[in-house]
Amino acid sequence: MNPFSLKDKTILVTGASSGIGRAIAIVCSQMGVNLILTGRNEDKLKDTLSRCEGTNHNYLLADLNKKEEIESLVEQLPKLDGFVNSAGIVKTLLLTFMELNDINEILQTNSISVMNLTRLLIINKKFNKESSIVYISSINGNNCSVIGNSAYSASKAMLNGFMKAIALELASKKIRVNCVNPAMIETDILKNSFVDAEDIKKDKLKYPLKRYGKPEEVAYAVVYLLSDAAQWITGSSLVIDGGYTIQ
Ligand SMILES: NC(=O)c1ccc[n+]([C@@H]2O[C@H](COP(=O)([O-])OP(=O)(O)OC[C@H]3O[C@@H](n4cnc5c(N)ncnc54)[C@H](OP(=O)(O)O)[C@@H]3O)[C@@H](O)[C@H]2O)c1
Repeated sequence: MNPFSLKDKTILVTGASSGIGRAIAIVCSQMGVNLILTGRNEDKLKDTLSRCEGTNHNYLLADLNKKEEIESLVEQLPKLDGFVNSAGIVKTLLLTFMELNDINEILQTNSISVMNLTRLLIINKKFNKESSIVYISSINGNNCSVIGNSAYSASKAMLNGFMKAIALELASKKIRVNCVNPAMIETDILKNSFVDAEDIKKDKLKYPLKRYGKPEEVAYAVVYLLSDAAQWITGSSLVIDGGYTIQ
């Protein structure tokens, strides 16, 4: 008996074409999961699939900001034991340079589409009993923030608030809902972030463990929250930050 095993569980991973979502897919596949991966970029999704162990995996293309695509995604899904939302964007902008469109795009992608996808999964009875939902949120907005990240922080705080409320609502169905809140993780998202290589080097020194995290270090926490070992954990936010926010 291994309570950490994910063998034969069916799990949907958004944002699986890149970064943290890709690492979650790969690590889950190593744990025996049957994966359904989603993203917008087909070549990158195929690349993720090629790195996964086992063959019982599929991918479905969907822009989560498009109502029809999200509905079609849900229609094509089998029953799930887990759902991990890693899709998200960063746009670093001072308030004075921010347009309403920027705010809308960030909130839509990082929180509203996640709420909508969760809503549709529940309405369409896509979860087996004792399923687990994990949202990749952030320390930003929940534990701390940085200049230029106001809309991003708001989007991630919104996600954490939503997570707590639906953890209560879905407890009667034995569906657990949790967030993972990482600090900086080495992924492509850094390219859209605030700093050049020299600033990144300096920023890493602000971390007690003197480095950014790796995507698989987030994936290991997600595996735990998806597993039966976390059966009594719901409504929680797990900070993964190399000690950054204890300072
Ligand atoms: N990296 C960090 O430092 C860090 C820290 C804290 C939290 N996070 C959070 O972790 C999550 C993953 O970040 P990452 O670093 O892995 O970023 P990433 O490498 O840029 O990957 C982002 C993923 O989101 C998907 N995506 C974006 N917009 C989408 C849309 N409209 N519809 C469907 N998919 C969409 C992308 O899909 P396509 O490529 O197929 O378009 C891609 O797979 C995000 O929610 C981010 O906020 C990241």
